Formats: sequence, structure tokens, C-alpha cells
Amino acid sequence: MLTNQWYVAGEAAAVTTAPVMVRLLGQDLVVFRDATGKLACLSDICIHRGAALSRGRTVDGCVECPYHGWRYDRDGRVTKIPAEPDAKIPARARIDAYPTVEKYGWIWVFLGDEPEHSRAPIPDMPEYDDPAIRWVRGEWNWRVNYHRAVENGLDFAHAPFVHGSTFGDRERPQISDFSVEEAEWSARSRMIMSVPHRSRGLWSLGSKKNNPAIRQVEARPWFHLSGPIVGLELFPREGWRIWLRSAHTPVDEYTTKSWWLMGRNFMKAKFFDKDTIKRNVKIFAEDAEIIQFLKPELVPDSLRDELTVKTDGLQVAYRRKVRALEQRGWKVDTAQLEAEFVGRRACSLPSPGRSDGSFVLQRVPLTSLKQGAAE
Ligand code: FES
Ligand SMILES: [Fe+2]
Repeated sequence: MLTNQWYVAGEAAAVTTAPVMVRLLGQDLVVFRDATGKLACLSDICIHRGAALSRGRTVDGCVECPYHGWRYDRDGRVTKIPAEPDAKIPARARIDAYPTVEKYGWIWVFLGDEPEHSRAPIPDMPEYDDPAIRWVRGEWNWRVNYHRAVENGLDFAHAPFVHGSTFGDRERPQISDFSVEEAEWSARSRMIMSVPHRSRGLWSLGSKKNNPAIRQVEARPWFHLSGPIVGLELFPREGWRIWLRSAHTPVDEYTTKSWWLMGRNFMKAKFFDKDTIKRNVKIFAEDAEIIQFLKPELVPDSLRDELTVKTDGLQVAYRRKVRALEQRGWKVDTAQLEAEFVGRRACSLPSPGRSDGSFVLQRVPLTSLKQGAAE
């Protein structure tokens, strides 16, 4: 799991002034809004006696600890110690506060202390505001490491076998015209797949008689390390286009929450939303049946520990980019975390505020792979 990345912490519409706990990278965070609607995301551990702030309430734009009533503002600073109203509040009375942004109806949280100018950006998805596209959205919980979920989203050779007639054809599993194009934080691909004409379901309606039994469908998958987001554009038939975006949030090493958006430029009446959602959830469920049983549970450190072929190219691009960030020392050291912290010593993911003061809680331990261990 990587620090210094933007992750999706939830649906923007679901967060109010009532504090809620979200778990990201194995750490508990508290998210809330002040009275003007401004978002805050703090470490969920009160530095007085370790109470969960998310079990408290918000007062005057601050979250109030449910145990002894200390108040923390949006910057994570203690503004009130009720038992000692006349005492000076210590300078160390602060907790990590993480940058937040609302975009695409999601709450994005930056988990790390990297300064703003060197952070990976949140990807541009201008299609989200296109009035010609009808969007539906949802979430999906997996018992998988998030890199496994991302790689599954970038893998098209599995479609004919895992998704049967929904999306692929077992008799024609070859992928042609496969290419990968890389950028700093992202990569995209393009490929042609064979898809059988569906005889059932709403989407089989329309110009049926003009549709051959098997069609060549263009797919354009991509990923961006912020999220990390897996995107896909599909061109199922003349004039029809589907946009899929899934942000795969690492809850902990073995749990992923995927926030997804699906857009379509056809059958845009609300009536068709239910079928669209059902279709997407079915695909996630089919994937889960396979990827929750992959071994090892974590993506191996070396590409040599698996046999990779050309059509795995987009996954390889993702792995290499992740590895490069791990080598910067941005990977959570889960073994050290469990050995030295869990149960006996609270810690917190470092935030940008760590550069100008001392904090009570230790940083979550981070590791880095030795150079050369990637290949
Ligand atoms: S534990 Fe939070 S105020 Fe005491
Ligand atoms: Fe799949």
C-alpha cells in the first residue's frame, strides 16, 4: 500500500457535519464537514487518551472527542481542553490533517506529506460533466489487495472466461491490435476483442437485425495512479459508447473498496439505470469469484515470480509505476506496523503539517524495496 497518493474516501453526498470513520491504508480516519460544507479529514485517534473522534460530534466546525471533549479544528489542531479552560494549549496538541478535494461526486483524500507541487494530480475526466452522458454509480467491497483489483481491471484476456457472454467470447478469446502508451502517472491501451451478440437483456434491443452474431469491439482501458483509477471506454456498437471508471481504495492490505462510475450515451432514460447497475455488479461478482483466490494474495515483488505475456502489458506498466513509488520509500511496512505498533502504540500516516511541528503520534512505518528487486 502506497502513501503520498490521492484516494477516494467516499461519496461526497454521504458526508455531512456528522463525523464518520473511514479506513484507508489500514488506518482509521475521521471525515466531516463544517457548517459551511468544507470538508475535513483527520487521523481518528485523539492524542489525549486515544478515543475515536468519529464517535464524537462536530461543534463550531470542530470535531469534539467523545471522551473528554477536546476539540480539533479542520487543520487537526486542538482548540479546546474543557477540563482546563484557562491553561495554554500545548503546541503538540495536534493530529494529522489530510488534504481533501471533492471531484466526480467522490471525496478524495491525499494520504501523505508530499508537498502539493510534487503530488500526482487527480485525473481529468471531462466526460463526467458531459450532459450527453448518463451516469450511474456504486461501490463494491472485495477481499483482495487493491493492486490485484487494479490489475484485474486492466486485464482483458480474462473476459471471455470469467464473464462469458456478458463481455467476451470463449470461442474467440484472442486480443488483437494490442498497444500500451505510458505517461508519468498513467498508461493507456487499445485493443480489439470479439463479443457475441446478446440475445437477452435490455441492451440486446435496438437494431438487432443489423447486428452480426459476433462483433469486433474496441476497448480502451487505462489507469491513473491517483485513486488508483481504472478507466475503460467501450464501443459496443455504432454510435454507442460506455465509460467505466473505478477507484480502487485500499482499506487495508487485504481489503479493497471500489467506487465506480458507469456512463452511457444510449438508453439514457432513468428506467434503464437499474439494468446498467445490475450488469456492472454482476461483472464485479464474477471477478470476485476468481481474484479473491489468487496466490499470493499480494502482487509478487518480482515479475519473475509469474509468467507474463504481451497482453499483460498494461498490468506490467502499472506494476512498474507502483514499484518506482515504493522505491521512493512510500510503501507501508505492514510487517513492522504489526510487530511494533498494532495494539500497543498508536501511529498515524504523516500529513503535510508534519513539516512544521512535532506530533504526539509516531509515523506509520514505511519501507522501500531494494533497488533492482523490481524485475
Ligand atoms: S481521549 Fe479524547 S479528549 Fe480525552
Ligand atoms: Fe473482469
